[in-house]
Amino acid sequence: MNAAEHSPVLLEPAVEMLAVRADGRYVDGTYGRGGHARRILQRLGPSGQLLVIDRDPEAIAHAQAYVADDARCVVRHAAFDELPALLRDLGWSEGVDGVLLDLGVSSPQLEAAERGFSFRREGPLDMRMDTRAGPTAAEYLAQVPERELAQVIRRYGEERFARRIARAIAAAREEAALPQTTSGLARLIAAAVPTREAGKDPATRTFQALRIAINRELEILASFLDVACDVLRPAGRLVVISFHSLEDRQVKRFMRDNARVGDLPPGVPVVPEHMRPRLQLVSKAIRPERHELEANPRARSAVMRVAERLP
Ligand SMILES: C[S@@+](CC[C@H](N)C(=O)[O-])C[C@H]1O[C@@H](n2cnc3c(N)ncnc32)[C@H](O)[C@@H]1O
Repeated sequence: MNAAEHSPVLLEPAVEMLAVRADGRYVDGTYGRGGHARRILQRLGPSGQLLVIDRDPEAIAHAQAYVADDARCVVRHAAFDELPALLRDLGWSEGVDGVLLDLGVSSPQLEAAERGFSFRREGPLDMRMDTRAGPTAAEYLAQVPERELAQVIRRYGEERFARRIARAIAAAREEAALPQTTSGLARLIAAAVPTREAGKDPATRTFQALRIAINRELEILASFLDVACDVLRPAGRLVVISFHSLEDRQVKRFMRDNARVGDLPPGVPVVPEHMRPRLQLVSKAIRPERHELEANPRARSAVMRVAERLP
């Protein structure tokens, strides 16, 4: 696969679960290289519509080149938690019939050395999905307090040596020797971590943590989930593919909490309107099948959850 390509994960099951209607209105909140978006367009009839969103300008350039000519498709450079405002601007305020999120980073992002996502490729410490906004990883590491950095590495990387790594980074900063490249940071982390996990580079967890922090991935997902029910029409589907347990936990909890009746005060015989569930779970967690795992190692950690908006 060349660096500009991305093998979509759970392609058929995700589009199946979105239950695309020929005349429906859908959102692909994470366009990437358009694997899912193109399959949705194939299922739409002439009056169907698809809004595709990505916060990465390179993904948006790809969408402009490959799907924007399709009159049924609208392309927007944005984060997916901006969806309510985007729908208002488009005049789609009555909502949509389905939203798909395929979270995380794409292969082209990971494989382009200059994006700085991978410790396996020598590049600048950038790690921003939206290269037009926000601090780079190098800028972040230059100013983040040591304690906060340790918390980020522990929480988002589930790294047991988070304090040691944060200490080593702070010490390098004090000596004006903070690494400016991916491999430099990976070496510093490797020197700070006293043990090795089989088959795992010691920088894996810290790189994941920094990427999540710099891109505010969990905050944006939480702010999207807050409004997700408002943007779905009755029977509209929410399909989310996650790649690590922190994301999946948020999605699972959100779907579960919105799919159950709140605790009724004693003596209240009928569930009042505002306490009725807003979602119905469509299936249990769905994971890629063996043939997909064999063909695409990136699918290994994928979990898909699906819920449907109740009237
Ligand atoms: C795993 S890829 C999606 C791949 C896509 N489904 C495909 O088949 O080509 C994730 C994409 O989501 C984008 N992304 C991640 N978080 C985002 C957010 N909060 N808002 C918008 N786009 C986001 C990334 O820039 C990346 O391009």
